[in-house]
Amino acid sequence: MPAVSAIDAAYRQFLKPFLFSLDAEYAHRLTIRMLSLMPPFPPPRERPELAIKLWGIDFPNPIGLAAGMDKDAVAIRGWETLGFGFAELGTITPRAQAGNETPRLWRIPERRALINRLGFPSEGMAAVAPRIERMRKAGISIRLGLNFGPNSDTPPEGVAADYTALMERLGPLADFIVINVSSPNTPGLRNWQSPEKMSELFAAMREKAGEPRPVLVKIAPDLERNELFRICETALELGVDGIVACNTSVAREALGVSSPHPGGLSGRPILIRARELIRDIHTHTRGKIPIIGVGGVSTAEDAWLHIRAGAALVELYTALIYEGPGVAERIKAGLADLLRRNGFRSISEVVGIDR
Ligand SMILES: Cc1cc2nc3c(=O)[nH]c(=O)nc-3n(C[C@H](O)[C@H](O)[C@H](O)COP(=O)(O)O)c2cc1C
Repeated sequence: MPAVSAIDAAYRQFLKPFLFSLDAEYAHRLTIRMLSLMPPFPPPRERPELAIKLWGIDFPNPIGLAAGMDKDAVAIRGWETLGFGFAELGTITPRAQAGNETPRLWRIPERRALINRLGFPSEGMAAVAPRIERMRKAGISIRLGLNFGPNSDTPPEGVAADYTALMERLGPLADFIVINVSSPNTPGLRNWQSPEKMSELFAAMREKAGEPRPVLVKIAPDLERNELFRICETALELGVDGIVACNTSVAREALGVSSPHPGGLSGRPILIRARELIRDIHTHTRGKIPIIGVGGVSTAEDAWLHIRAGAALVELYTALIYEGPGVAERIKAGLADLLRRNGFRSISEVVGIDR
Protein backbone atom coordinates (compact mmCIF):
# COMPACT_ATOMS: atom_id res chain seq x y z
CA MET A 1 0.00 0.00 0.00
CA PRO A 2 1.34 3.51 -0.80
CA ALA A 3 2.71 5.65 2.07
CA VAL A 4 0.10 7.22 4.34
CA SER A 5 1.30 10.74 3.55
CA ALA A 6 0.79 10.14 -0.17
CA ILE A 7 -2.74 8.81 0.43
CA ASP A 8 -3.59 11.78 2.65
CA ALA A 9 -2.21 14.28 0.13
CA ALA A 10 -4.18 12.67 -2.70
CA TYR A 11 -7.33 12.67 -0.56
CA ARG A 12 -6.98 16.33 0.38
CA GLN A 13 -6.11 17.52 -3.12
CA PHE A 14 -8.45 15.51 -5.31
CA LEU A 15 -10.87 13.14 -3.66
CA LYS A 16 -12.11 15.29 -0.76
CA PRO A 17 -13.05 18.35 -2.89
CA PHE A 18 -14.84 16.02 -5.28
CA LEU A 19 -16.70 14.10 -2.57
CA PHE A 20 -17.58 17.32 -0.71
CA SER A 21 -19.12 18.68 -3.93
CA LEU A 22 -21.64 15.82 -3.82
CA ASP A 23 -24.61 15.19 -1.56
CA ALA A 24 -23.20 13.78 1.71
CA GLU A 25 -25.03 10.46 1.57
CA TYR A 26 -24.26 9.91 -2.11
CA ALA A 27 -20.58 10.62 -1.39
CA HIS A 28 -20.72 8.08 1.43
CA ARG A 29 -22.20 5.42 -0.83
CA LEU A 30 -19.57 6.11 -3.49
CA THR A 31 -16.77 5.83 -0.90
CA ILE A 32 -18.06 2.52 0.43
CA ARG A 33 -18.35 1.23 -3.13
CA MET A 34 -14.76 2.26 -3.89
CA LEU A 35 -13.54 0.56 -0.73
CA SER A 36 -15.46 -2.60 -1.47
CA LEU A 37 -13.80 -2.77 -4.89
CA MET A 38 -10.31 -2.05 -3.57
CA PRO A 39 -7.77 -4.74 -4.48
CA PRO A 40 -6.73 -6.80 -1.43
CA PHE A 41 -3.49 -5.08 -0.36
CA PRO A 42 -1.80 -6.77 2.60
CA PRO A 43 -2.73 -4.87 5.80
CA PRO A 44 -0.10 -2.44 7.11
CA ARG A 45 2.57 -3.83 9.45
CA GLU A 46 1.37 -3.67 13.04
CA ARG A 47 3.35 -2.30 15.99
CA PRO A 48 3.47 -4.90 18.78
CA GLU A 49 3.23 -2.19 21.48
CA LEU A 50 -0.25 -1.23 20.19
CA ALA A 51 -1.65 -4.78 20.37
CA ILE A 52 -4.18 -5.30 23.13
CA LYS A 53 -6.07 -8.31 24.45
CA LEU A 54 -9.69 -7.99 25.59
CA TRP A 55 -12.25 -10.71 26.31
CA GLY A 56 -9.56 -13.20 25.28
CA ILE A 57 -9.42 -11.64 21.80
CA ASP A 58 -6.16 -10.30 20.38
CA PHE A 59 -6.72 -6.90 18.78
CA PRO A 60 -3.80 -6.03 16.45
CA ASN A 61 -4.24 -2.35 17.45
CA PRO A 62 -6.81 -0.35 19.42
CA ILE A 63 -8.16 1.81 16.58
CA GLY A 64 -11.50 0.73 15.15
CA LEU A 65 -14.11 1.86 12.70
CA ALA A 66 -17.28 3.05 14.46
CA ALA A 67 -20.73 1.71 13.60
CA GLY A 68 -22.71 3.32 10.81
CA MET A 69 -19.96 3.59 8.21
CA ASP A 70 -20.27 0.02 6.92
CA LYS A 71 -23.80 -0.91 7.87
CA ASP A 72 -24.05 -3.91 5.55
CA ALA A 73 -20.55 -5.37 5.89
CA VAL A 74 -19.53 -4.74 2.29
CA ALA A 75 -15.99 -3.36 2.73
CA ILE A 76 -14.38 -5.47 5.46
CA ARG A 77 -11.16 -5.98 3.49
CA GLY A 78 -10.95 -2.22 2.90
CA TRP A 79 -11.00 -1.43 6.64
CA GLU A 80 -8.26 -3.97 7.22
CA THR A 81 -6.17 -2.42 4.42
CA LEU A 82 -6.61 1.04 5.97
CA GLY A 83 -5.04 -0.24 9.20
CA PHE A 84 -8.06 -0.53 11.49
CA GLY A 85 -7.59 -3.15 14.19
CA PHE A 86 -11.31 -3.78 14.26
CA ALA A 87 -14.52 -2.64 12.62
CA GLU A 88 -17.95 -2.35 14.19
CA LEU A 89 -20.33 -3.26 11.38
CA GLY A 90 -23.99 -2.22 11.42
CA THR A 91 -26.33 -1.19 12.79
CA ILE A 92 -27.84 -4.36 11.35
CA THR A 93 -31.60 -4.89 11.71
CA PRO A 94 -33.35 -8.28 11.48
CA ARG A 95 -35.32 -7.42 8.33
CA ALA A 96 -34.20 -5.12 5.52
CA GLN A 97 -35.46 -1.54 5.88
CA ALA A 98 -34.90 1.75 4.04
CA GLY A 99 -34.45 4.10 7.00
CA ASN A 100 -35.79 7.66 7.16
CA GLU A 101 -36.62 9.80 4.16
CA THR A 102 -33.83 11.82 2.54
CA PRO A 103 -32.08 14.21 3.00
CA ARG A 104 -30.77 12.69 6.22
CA LEU A 105 -27.03 13.38 6.38
CA TRP A 106 -25.37 16.80 6.55
CA ARG A 107 -21.79 18.04 6.83
CA ILE A 108 -20.80 21.00 8.99
CA PRO A 109 -17.24 21.44 7.73
CA GLU A 110 -16.39 24.51 9.84
CA ARG A 111 -16.94 22.38 12.97
CA ARG A 112 -15.61 19.11 11.50
CA ALA A 113 -18.97 17.58 12.35
CA LEU A 114 -21.82 15.63 10.79
CA ILE A 115 -25.50 15.47 11.61
CA ASN A 116 -27.47 12.40 10.59
CA ARG A 117 -30.96 11.03 11.00
CA LEU A 118 -30.53 7.95 8.83
CA GLY A 119 -32.73 5.73 11.01
CA PHE A 120 -30.94 2.40 10.41
CA PRO A 121 -31.06 1.76 6.68
CA SER A 122 -30.05 -1.90 6.60
CA GLU A 123 -30.06 -4.75 4.12
CA GLY A 124 -31.04 -6.98 7.04
CA MET A 125 -29.32 -9.92 8.69
CA ALA A 126 -30.04 -12.41 5.90
CA ALA A 127 -28.01 -10.31 3.43
CA VAL A 128 -25.21 -9.45 5.85
CA ALA A 129 -24.52 -12.92 7.27
CA PRO A 130 -23.17 -14.59 4.10
CA ARG A 131 -20.83 -11.63 3.46
CA ILE A 132 -19.21 -12.04 6.86
CA GLU A 133 -19.10 -15.82 6.45
CA ARG A 134 -17.27 -15.39 3.13
CA MET A 135 -14.69 -13.04 4.64
CA ARG A 136 -14.11 -15.35 7.60
CA LYS A 137 -13.49 -18.24 5.20
CA ALA A 138 -11.11 -16.14 3.09
CA GLY A 139 -9.16 -15.22 6.24
CA ILE A 140 -9.03 -11.78 7.85
CA SER A 141 -6.86 -10.32 10.60
CA ILE A 142 -9.23 -7.44 11.44
CA ARG A 143 -11.58 -8.11 14.37
CA LEU A 144 -15.30 -7.66 13.80
CA GLY A 145 -17.87 -6.18 16.14
CA LEU A 146 -21.48 -6.51 15.00
CA ASN A 147 -23.88 -3.76 16.05
CA PHE A 148 -27.54 -4.74 16.40
CA GLY A 149 -30.72 -2.66 16.32
CA PRO A 150 -34.45 -3.34 16.02
CA ASN A 151 -36.55 -2.65 12.92
CA SER A 152 -38.33 0.68 13.08
CA ASP A 153 -41.78 -0.91 12.62
CA THR A 154 -41.24 -3.39 15.45
CA PRO A 155 -43.62 -2.54 18.32
CA PRO A 156 -42.03 -2.00 21.76
CA GLU A 157 -43.07 -5.49 22.93
CA GLY A 158 -41.18 -7.05 19.98
CA VAL A 159 -37.85 -5.23 20.42
CA ALA A 160 -36.26 -7.87 22.66
CA ALA A 161 -37.18 -10.56 20.10
CA ASP A 162 -35.47 -8.51 17.36
CA TYR A 163 -32.20 -8.40 19.33
CA THR A 164 -32.54 -12.12 20.11
CA ALA A 165 -33.04 -13.00 16.43
CA LEU A 166 -29.94 -10.99 15.50
CA MET A 167 -27.96 -12.67 18.23
CA GLU A 168 -28.99 -16.14 17.06
CA ARG A 169 -28.19 -15.54 13.38
CA LEU A 170 -25.16 -13.25 13.57
CA GLY A 171 -23.72 -13.78 17.05
CA PRO A 172 -21.52 -16.73 16.08
CA LEU A 173 -19.96 -14.66 13.25
CA ALA A 174 -18.88 -11.78 15.52
CA ASP A 175 -15.80 -11.27 17.68
CA PHE A 176 -18.03 -9.09 19.85
CA ILE A 177 -21.59 -7.81 19.75
CA VAL A 178 -22.87 -4.31 20.40
CA ILE A 179 -26.45 -3.77 21.49
CA ASN A 180 -27.35 -0.35 20.16
CA VAL A 181 -29.89 1.26 22.45
CA SER A 182 -28.76 4.82 21.83
CA SER A 183 -29.33 5.98 18.25
CA PRO A 184 -31.46 9.11 18.41
CA ASN A 185 -33.21 8.37 15.11
CA THR A 186 -35.33 5.35 16.04
CA PRO A 187 -38.22 6.56 18.23
CA GLY A 188 -38.26 4.95 21.69
CA LEU A 189 -34.91 3.18 21.28
CA ARG A 190 -33.13 5.15 24.01
CA ASN A 191 -35.72 3.96 26.55
CA TRP A 192 -33.89 0.63 26.46
CA GLN A 193 -31.02 2.29 28.31
CA SER A 194 -33.07 2.25 31.51
CA PRO A 195 -31.96 -0.41 34.03
CA GLU A 196 -35.35 -2.18 33.94
CA LYS A 197 -35.40 -2.36 30.15
CA MET A 198 -31.74 -3.36 29.93
CA SER A 199 -32.32 -6.19 32.39
CA GLU A 200 -35.35 -7.34 30.40
CA LEU A 201 -33.32 -7.31 27.19
CA PHE A 202 -30.41 -9.27 28.59
CA ALA A 203 -32.70 -11.83 30.23
CA ALA A 204 -34.48 -12.40 26.89
CA MET A 205 -31.25 -12.68 24.94
CA ARG A 206 -29.67 -15.08 27.39
CA GLU A 207 -32.74 -17.27 27.52
CA LYS A 208 -33.20 -17.52 23.76
CA ALA A 209 -29.79 -17.14 22.20
CA GLY A 210 -27.28 -17.70 24.95
CA GLU A 211 -24.31 -15.41 24.62
CA PRO A 212 -22.07 -16.74 21.94
CA ARG A 213 -19.73 -13.72 22.17
CA PRO A 214 -18.91 -10.74 24.44
CA VAL A 215 -21.92 -8.42 24.51
CA LEU A 216 -21.48 -4.65 24.87
CA VAL A 217 -24.03 -1.88 25.22
CA LYS A 218 -23.73 1.37 23.28
CA ILE A 219 -24.96 4.42 25.14
CA ALA A 220 -25.88 8.01 24.31
CA PRO A 221 -23.92 11.13 25.28
CA ASP A 222 -27.13 12.85 26.33
CA LEU A 223 -27.57 11.00 29.63
CA GLU A 224 -27.74 12.76 32.97
CA ARG A 225 -24.96 11.73 35.36
CA ASN A 226 -27.31 9.82 37.64
CA GLU A 227 -28.75 7.94 34.64
CA LEU A 228 -25.22 7.03 33.57
CA PHE A 229 -24.34 5.74 37.02
CA ARG A 230 -27.46 3.60 37.12
CA ILE A 231 -26.50 2.14 33.74
CA CYS A 232 -23.00 1.39 35.07
CA GLU A 233 -24.44 -0.40 38.10
CA THR A 234 -26.89 -2.37 35.96
CA ALA A 235 -24.10 -3.33 33.57
CA LEU A 236 -22.03 -4.61 36.50
CA GLU A 237 -24.99 -6.56 37.91
CA LEU A 238 -25.90 -8.08 34.55
CA GLY A 239 -22.30 -8.95 33.70
CA VAL A 240 -22.35 -6.83 30.53
CA ASP A 241 -18.97 -7.31 28.84
CA GLY A 242 -18.38 -3.71 27.83
CA ILE A 243 -19.77 -0.24 27.18
CA VAL A 244 -19.41 1.70 23.94
CA ALA A 245 -19.41 5.40 24.76
CA CYS A 246 -20.84 7.10 22.89
CA ASN A 247 -23.38 7.48 20.08
CA THR A 248 -24.31 10.75 18.37
CA SER A 249 -25.81 13.61 20.38
CA VAL A 250 -29.14 15.41 20.12
CA ALA A 251 -27.68 18.37 22.04
CA ARG A 252 -26.40 21.31 19.97
CA GLU A 253 -24.61 23.50 22.55
CA ALA A 254 -21.18 22.11 21.69
CA LEU A 255 -21.72 22.74 17.98
CA GLY A 256 -21.25 26.47 18.48
CA VAL A 257 -23.08 27.39 15.26
CA SER A 258 -26.78 27.19 14.59
CA SER A 259 -27.95 24.32 12.47
CA PRO A 260 -31.47 23.62 11.24
CA HIS A 261 -30.85 19.88 10.83
CA PRO A 262 -32.48 17.31 13.10
CA GLY A 263 -30.72 14.13 14.24
CA GLY A 264 -27.49 13.02 15.86
CA LEU A 265 -24.37 15.19 16.00
CA SER A 266 -20.93 13.56 15.62
CA GLY A 267 -17.33 14.66 15.19
CA ARG A 268 -15.20 17.23 16.93
CA PRO A 269 -17.98 18.95 18.94
CA ILE A 270 -18.66 15.75 20.93
CA LEU A 271 -15.01 14.94 21.72
CA ILE A 272 -14.98 16.41 25.23
CA ARG A 273 -18.37 14.99 26.16
CA ALA A 274 -17.29 11.50 25.02
CA ARG A 275 -14.14 11.74 27.16
CA GLU A 276 -16.14 12.88 30.18
CA LEU A 277 -18.42 9.85 29.79
CA ILE A 278 -15.48 7.47 29.41
CA ARG A 279 -13.88 8.86 32.57
CA ASP A 280 -17.17 8.67 34.51
CA ILE A 281 -17.83 5.08 33.44
CA HIS A 282 -14.28 3.99 34.21
CA THR A 283 -14.41 5.63 37.62
CA HIS A 284 -17.87 4.43 38.52
CA THR A 285 -17.21 0.81 37.49
CA ARG A 286 -13.72 0.95 39.07
CA GLY A 287 -12.30 -0.11 35.70
CA LYS A 288 -14.18 -3.41 35.81
CA ILE A 289 -15.98 -2.98 32.49
CA PRO A 290 -13.96 -2.48 29.31
CA ILE A 291 -14.91 0.69 27.43
CA ILE A 292 -14.79 1.39 23.71
CA GLY A 293 -14.31 5.16 23.51
CA VAL A 294 -15.88 6.86 20.50
CA GLY A 295 -16.70 10.45 19.76
CA GLY A 296 -14.74 13.19 18.02
CA VAL A 297 -11.43 11.38 17.68
CA SER A 298 -9.32 12.60 14.77
CA THR A 299 -5.72 12.71 16.06
CA ALA A 300 -3.35 10.50 18.06
CA GLU A 301 -3.63 12.95 20.96
CA ASP A 302 -7.45 12.57 20.95
CA ALA A 303 -7.16 8.77 21.03
CA TRP A 304 -4.43 8.94 23.69
CA LEU A 305 -6.61 11.03 25.99
CA HIS A 306 -9.66 8.75 25.48
CA ILE A 307 -7.43 5.79 26.42
CA ARG A 308 -5.98 7.59 29.44
CA ALA A 309 -9.56 8.37 30.54
CA GLY A 310 -10.42 4.65 30.46
CA ALA A 311 -11.04 3.46 26.90
CA ALA A 312 -9.37 0.15 26.09
CA LEU A 313 -10.28 0.55 22.41
CA VAL A 314 -11.08 3.68 20.41
CA GLU A 315 -13.33 4.09 17.38
CA LEU A 316 -13.94 6.85 14.86
CA TYR A 317 -16.30 7.65 12.03
CA THR A 318 -16.52 11.39 11.28
CA ALA A 319 -12.73 11.89 11.14
CA LEU A 320 -12.57 9.53 8.21
CA ILE A 321 -14.69 12.00 6.21
CA TYR A 322 -12.62 15.06 7.14
CA GLU A 323 -9.13 13.57 7.47
CA GLY A 324 -9.26 10.83 4.85
CA PRO A 325 -8.32 7.17 4.59
CA GLY A 326 -4.89 7.54 6.21
CA VAL A 327 -6.39 8.56 9.56
CA ALA A 328 -6.09 5.19 11.36
CA GLU A 329 -2.47 4.72 10.33
CA ARG A 330 -1.61 8.30 11.32
CA ILE A 331 -3.21 7.86 14.74
CA LYS A 332 -1.36 4.57 15.27
CA ALA A 333 2.00 6.13 14.40
CA GLY A 334 1.25 8.99 16.80
CA LEU A 335 0.18 6.63 19.60
CA ALA A 336 3.40 4.63 19.25
CA ASP A 337 5.30 7.90 19.51
CA LEU A 338 3.34 9.03 22.58
CA LEU A 339 3.96 5.67 24.27
CA ARG A 340 7.69 5.97 23.72
CA ARG A 341 7.92 9.60 24.82
CA ASN A 342 5.95 8.89 28.00
CA GLY A 343 7.98 5.83 28.91
CA PHE A 344 5.32 3.12 28.40
CA ARG A 345 5.98 -0.20 26.73
CA SER A 346 2.42 -1.16 25.82
CA ILE A 347 -0.85 0.66 25.15
CA SER A 348 -2.61 -1.53 27.71
CA GLU A 349 -0.53 0.16 30.46
CA VAL A 350 -2.16 3.49 29.61
CA VAL A 351 -5.84 2.49 29.87
CA GLY A 352 -7.49 4.55 32.58
CA ILE A 353 -4.33 6.03 34.12
CA ASP A 354 -6.08 9.39 34.49
CA ARG A 355 -8.66 7.94 36.87
C1 LIG B 1 -23.69 9.01 9.37
C2 LIG B 1 -23.59 8.26 10.66
C3 LIG B 1 -24.28 7.08 10.83
C4 LIG B 1 -24.19 6.40 12.04
N1 LIG B 1 -24.85 5.21 12.18
C5 LIG B 1 -24.74 4.52 13.33
C6 LIG B 1 -25.37 3.27 13.48
O1 LIG B 1 -26.02 2.75 12.56
N2 LIG B 1 -25.25 2.64 14.67
C7 LIG B 1 -24.53 3.16 15.72
O2 LIG B 1 -24.44 2.53 16.77
N3 LIG B 1 -23.88 4.34 15.58
C8 LIG B 1 -23.97 5.01 14.42
N4 LIG B 1 -23.30 6.20 14.29
C9 LIG B 1 -22.56 6.76 15.44
C10 LIG B 1 -21.07 6.44 15.36
O3 LIG B 1 -20.84 5.05 15.45
C11 LIG B 1 -20.32 7.14 16.51
O4 LIG B 1 -20.82 6.64 17.73
C12 LIG B 1 -20.48 8.66 16.49
O5 LIG B 1 -20.49 9.15 15.17
C13 LIG B 1 -19.36 9.37 17.25
O6 LIG B 1 -18.10 9.10 16.67
P1 LIG B 1 -17.36 10.14 15.65
O7 LIG B 1 -17.40 11.47 16.32
O8 LIG B 1 -15.98 9.57 15.50
O9 LIG B 1 -18.13 10.11 14.38
C14 LIG B 1 -23.38 6.90 13.09
C15 LIG B 1 -22.68 8.09 12.90
C16 LIG B 1 -22.77 8.77 11.70
C17 LIG B 1 -22.00 10.05 11.53
